[in-house]
Amino acid sequence: MNGLVDRFGRTHEYLRISVTDRCNLRCRYCMPAEETELASKRDILSFDEIVELAALFAELGIRKIRITGGEPLVRRGIECLCEQLAAVRGIQSLGITTNGVLLSEKALALKQAGVREVNISLDTLQPERFLGIALRDEYDAVRAGIRAALENGFQSVKINTVVMKGVNDDELLDLVDFAALHSLNVRFIEYMPFPGNRWSQAQCLPCDAMKERIESKYKLAPLESRDALHGPAVDFRVEGTDAVVGFIATMSDSSCASCNRLRLTADGRLRSCLFSTFECDLKTLLRSGADGDLLQHAIAASTFLKWKGRPPIEELLNVQTRSMTAIGG
Ligand code: 5AD
Ligand code: SF4
Repeated sequence: MNGLVDRFGRTHEYLRISVTDRCNLRCRYCMPAEETELASKRDILSFDEIVELAALFAELGIRKIRITGGEPLVRRGIECLCEQLAAVRGIQSLGITTNGVLLSEKALALKQAGVREVNISLDTLQPERFLGIALRDEYDAVRAGIRAALENGFQSVKINTVVMKGVNDDELLDLVDFAALHSLNVRFIEYMPFPGNRWSQAQCLPCDAMKERIESKYKLAPLESRDALHGPAVDFRVEGTDAVVGFIATMSDSSCASCNRLRLTADGRLRSCLFSTFECDLKTLLRSGADGDLLQHAIAASTFLKWKGRPPIEELLNVQTRSMTAIGG
């Protein structure tokens, strides 16, 4: 088979793998307000199963893998999985997206395991506000995690900030200052609706408005870094600093036309879109003895069927999709 190309000509070289639906924070933009049932151990793919599937994806043209959750570092032995994934033939880039709470313990092991890119969520630089957003008092741990990531010399360390009007949108400049101070890449993400996350249009600040606020202090120069492995962020160099600011405009300007990503959920389903309701149950196929060829046909077919773009926002609010912790961001 020749590459993972869909009906609309999009090639897929980037696979996000969620390794758990558990998390040690309770970010209100991510988790449903009520506690939901977590998958049992048996429902979750084992490391061997993940590696087996990753190798099949890589044969089909996947070049970049990002490990997500829930919070991936709460899964025991995550560094062993990373080591195996980094060794999969064809994988050129291995990254992880973490909330940073356990990163100071794990950074060195992840680096040694071959992880190159670390993305860390940080929505505020104010400890009390952190508690209000994440509902756990882990601000200091996250800051220590960011320090550890910087000290261990990863190829790339990025900060992810979900911007919510009236919650943290007054910190945009503070976060760019922070990025400038540490020569970091900070990405501002539009707040997206998910079941139970209490999203409202009024709380969603469009990236254009974020950019305008940042430009009241800083000059932003467009960065042309879009290669086949690049994610949805539109990046700018912050002039006079070594910082980069990115914007992920999922709501105001969906980047569906250039989407190059596929997602494997912790319970082994392939999702071709974050917002889609259709999933292909690779775990059941795998556990019922399907061989690699059959699995690859299933992967290629579900990729081929990927929809053209997400529905409009009004419709998204009614789509019964899974929460972000279950899909993996
Ligand atoms: N809107 C935007 N981004 C979200 N994330 C989680 N929930 C949302 C949401 N509702 C992001 C977090 C993290 C990644 C895993 O997903 O910022 O970086
Ligand atoms: Fe956990 Fe990340 Fe969701 Fe926060 S955004 S609750 S850290 S999975």
